Amino acid sequence: MSRFSTRTDFTRTLNPLAQALERHRASGLRLLDLTESNPTRVGLPTPDPAVLATEGAFTYEPDPLGLASARQALVADFAARGARVSEAHLVLSASTSEAYGWLFKLLCEPGDNVLVPAPCYPLFEHLARLEGVQTRSYPLPRAHGFGLDARVVGDAVNDRTRAVLVVNPGNPTGHFLHEGELAVLADVCASWRLPLICDEVFAPFAWDAEPGRVATVAGRPLPMLTFTLSGLSKSVGLPGLKLAWTHVGGPADLRDEALARLEWMADASLPVGTPVQKALPALLAHAPVFQAAVRERVRGNRQRLLAARRPGALWDVVPAEGGWSAVLRIPRAPGEEATCLALLDAGVLVQPGYFYDFGGGAFLVLSLLPQPEDFAAAVEVLARTLGP
Ligand SMILES: Cc1ncc(COP(=O)(O)O)c(C=O)c1O
Repeated sequence: MSRFSTRTDFTRTLNPLAQALERHRASGLRLLDLTESNPTRVGLPTPDPAVLATEGAFTYEPDPLGLASARQALVADFAARGARVSEAHLVLSASTSEAYGWLFKLLCEPGDNVLVPAPCYPLFEHLARLEGVQTRSYPLPRAHGFGLDARVVGDAVNDRTRAVLVVNPGNPTGHFLHEGELAVLADVCASWRLPLICDEVFAPFAWDAEPGRVATVAGRPLPMLTFTLSGLSKSVGLPGLKLAWTHVGGPADLRDEALARLEWMADASLPVGTPVQKALPALLAHAPVFQAAVRERVRGNRQRLLAARRPGALWDVVPAEGGWSAVLRIPRAPGEEATCLALLDAGVLVQPGYFYDFGGGAFLVLSLLPQPEDFAAAVEVLARTLGP
């Protein structure tokens, strides 16, 4: 019998694409990496590191919810985006991933499930599994351009479902939640008495200003318990600083009970460092600089991608509204893996759609963050390889 838990028994064998990548790297041949989404490696602006050297950076006055000064800075940041929230309803964590772990512990018994979108970044299944929780997918319909169709969410609910998770805008699909969809989603959650977990890490990265998009669900009078998640890893492009936040909203009795339990969980490990909390006002002040640079990078690279597509090509760029990625629809034959392998042979790395649980067709996912010259060189190879 194994000495280890089944929930940590993750597959570690390399798939053919990962094996081919290892071989390519070992060969020393040039690789144009269109999977690069680490914001600290693509020449984007960072704040002056001196912002971390605040007075009091070495003091230790733990508050499980996070330092009041840091939570007040977040209240001002929400207000600047038109959302009125209270610092008493905010909980800091080291990352949104950690916050997910707390929320799954808060809401689920082992064996329960949470609803997650498909396609989506493959994070939630692993985080849930580590808490003994399962994920059940609800489809983001292709006909909807992979935007949310709140009516289909209810079809995925079963008697062990404990929460609905929404990513606004989707990663990698880049569609925002719209006001009408939120209204339907709120009805679905309220009728099944399910909390909503809304992941807004990519919300600052809308590509244009179309009206009717939900910028945040925080601070709204929603009928269900609502958790809104974001953090520095995307909003300021600094995942290494380890600071994220969860806003808790919804009916007051449920909200206060959830906050008391989250406070207790946070108190068990007090995971957020003092220097980053003290520096939060300065880091949030830098956010607009970083976000504008990302929007400019993404806009330019998306144009380069669209320009590389020759008329009549059998591949297409799937429409989207925001985020850091592009999704390409490609012919079913030879399919995702064979296409990724052919591109790797030609020196370009992209991700296959199956990595993100795309169904009903063949897709590639690429990051729009790489430096423009690398991106331009890569899409030239991409267009040549995909043909015609
Ligand atoms: C949609 C989404 N949410 C959350 C995360 C994780 O963010 P964090 O670094 O705060 O754990 C990611 C990571 O890429 C993500 O794509």
